Amino acid sequence: MSSNANAGIDAGRGRFVTFEGGEGAGKSTQARLLAAALAEVGVDAATTREPGGSKTAERLREALLSGLVEPLGPAAEALVFAAARIDHVDHLIRPALASGRWVICDRFVDSTRAYQGALGNVDPSLIAALEKTAVGDCRPDLTLILDLPPETGLARAARRRGPGAVDRFEKQGPEFHEQLRRAFLAIARAEPERCAIVDADTDEATLAREIWSVVTRKLRPLRWLAARGEGAMGA
Ligand code: TYD
Repeated sequence: MSSNANAGIDAGRGRFVTFEGGEGAGKSTQARLLAAALAEVGVDAATTREPGGSKTAERLREALLSGLVEPLGPAAEALVFAAARIDHVDHLIRPALASGRWVICDRFVDSTRAYQGALGNVDPSLIAALEKTAVGDCRPDLTLILDLPPETGLARAARRRGPGAVDRFEKQGPEFHEQLRRAFLAIARAEPERCAIVDADTDEATLAREIWSVVTRKLRPLRWLAARGEGAMGA
């Protein structure tokens, strides 16, 4: 290995990983497992979620998931998701990345593109403008799209919840979830450098191994550590 093998790696900044996909795909579990796997090799990662992740954004989450904003329509929902994202990026994501932490986020801008854009028919130029305002240059380095048949995801989500309330988006019918799946796959196809589709129709451990192999291949955590002068050169 040449001595400048790490040249060009910006190791001053952490890496930003997002999980996306339909309901019950296992995003939050896999986000936790990825953070634990990174911790084992010495990479400090914050796990967070959207909507929410910071104080004000968590309050906006309640408004969004309770259905309070729903009567105002998908464009208004997109505005409130974006408002929550501004708070989250400013108070958690950007400072963490700047300090050299990795950030693993359960849902991010692709959920707005899919739910409000593709399914809610919100004008793509509005979605793009909100994204630019809320996120700026704080874009994910890697987005893992957890893909599975909607029936499997909805059955898992129902088991997790137990009998009782479904939220604003879980209550939609099967056609909605089929379209949602197609929307996420289209996003992945449009940005293959950033996005990886992972088959989530499997057990937790198998999925975690697949995710780890994508993360090591695309983001090279050991090389990133070495470029910071922390840890041995490797994957
Ligand atoms: P959550 O309970 O976190 O769902 P899940 O476990 O499926 O991630 O609820 C988040 C819901 O909000 C989910 O149905 C997707 C939706 N959502 C949007 O519609 N737009 C967005 O920009 C985001 C971040 C989420």
